[in-house]
Amino acid sequence: MSNEYLLVRALKGEITERMPFWFMRQAGRYLPEYRALRASVPSFLDLCFDVDKAAEVTIQPIRRFGMDAAILFSDILVIPHGLGAGVRFAEGEGPIVEQTITAERIGQLRGGDVLSNLSPVGEVVKKVRAELPRETALIGFAGSPWTVACYMLQGDRGKASVKEFATARSFAYAEPVLMQQLIDTLVEASIAYLSMQVEAGVQAIQLFDSWSGLLTPEQFQRWSIEPTQRIVAALKQHYPHLPIIGFAKGAGANLPSYAAQTGVDAIGIDQHTPMAYGIAARAHAKQAVQGNLDPLLVASDGPGSVSALKQLLVSLNDVPCVVNFGHGMQPQTPIAHVEALCETIRQYRRP
Ligand code: CP3
Repeated sequence: MSNEYLLVRALKGEITERMPFWFMRQAGRYLPEYRALRASVPSFLDLCFDVDKAAEVTIQPIRRFGMDAAILFSDILVIPHGLGAGVRFAEGEGPIVEQTITAERIGQLRGGDVLSNLSPVGEVVKKVRAELPRETALIGFAGSPWTVACYMLQGDRGKASVKEFATARSFAYAEPVLMQQLIDTLVEASIAYLSMQVEAGVQAIQLFDSWSGLLTPEQFQRWSIEPTQRIVAALKQHYPHLPIIGFAKGAGANLPSYAAQTGVDAIGIDQHTPMAYGIAARAHAKQAVQGNLDPLLVASDGPGSVSALKQLLVSLNDVPCVVNFGHGMQPQTPIAHVEALCETIRQYRRP
């Protein structure tokens, strides 16, 4: 058997003897040990940049459940923070970018400051890698430029997700040149930031394009696929063996072009997309799929989620895959439901 991490082998297109698994938002509020640590810092960003605490929170779910991968504890909005846009996490409202990005502000974003502002994240990666079990992979991540731009353009104009980022979407239509400039800044910042994570010791990268589903097919091409393509190409040039997972949530019928054009090793499938569609959307047989249990089912119905999982596992028999949710873990998820899922995946063997 190879010494390579199970997760990495699957992402590289191997049909592994056991299917690797991890869960988006596996570190977080559903864990009492997370809530205790969260209460010890004034703000969420303080937790992201406290090396010891962020490392501890990254490892908490591994200690409890033994997933095949840990995901770095941070947030997609540390990049706007690093660019000097000012980010705050309001209780019950979600993230707010304080300096709403206007035409004037785009040119003032400080791309050169990203690495120094985000250097604690590299320290978190090093610490986690040194403390994780040998067989557990560490996943680094960033938000995709479109999704990060959504928050930057929305600013504090009301709860962004409720308004479906209308400000961002109309800016992309009305000011395509400025939008391109913002996206270019985010592409460069993401390449620098992700390279730092790789140098510090992550084994794989996931790009979260959580709001790509808001885009029309033409916009999806320009604002989701093209920037992703550039980030993947730059990372692969320096780190040809680095596996990259692209998660374009809500991509739907755009998934086959995303899979074919971005160059990612694995495509994330959300819970709204039938897994059979995700499997067929792959560009080639070695491209892996990742997904796609409904996190709300997991939170609401333990036995129901175990039977949905069993069907999912069977549907993944013939493809390289990573078992995951279709989106992030809900804060109200009972620990026992997560334990039952982990046990079921661990026991399962392909026929
Ligand atoms: O366990 C992990 O997945 C690692 C850590 C992680 C967080 N955010 C921690 C977090 C990761 C990978 C993210 C990614 C992220 N952040 C995304 C992409 C994935 C997705 O869910 O679509 C997005 C869109 C964000 C932006 C963000 N951060 C939102 C919308 C919110 C508020 C909603 C919420 O769940 O509170 C956050 C805050 C956040 N990020 C929390 C955590 C644990 C909760 C804050 C707290 O504990 O006080």
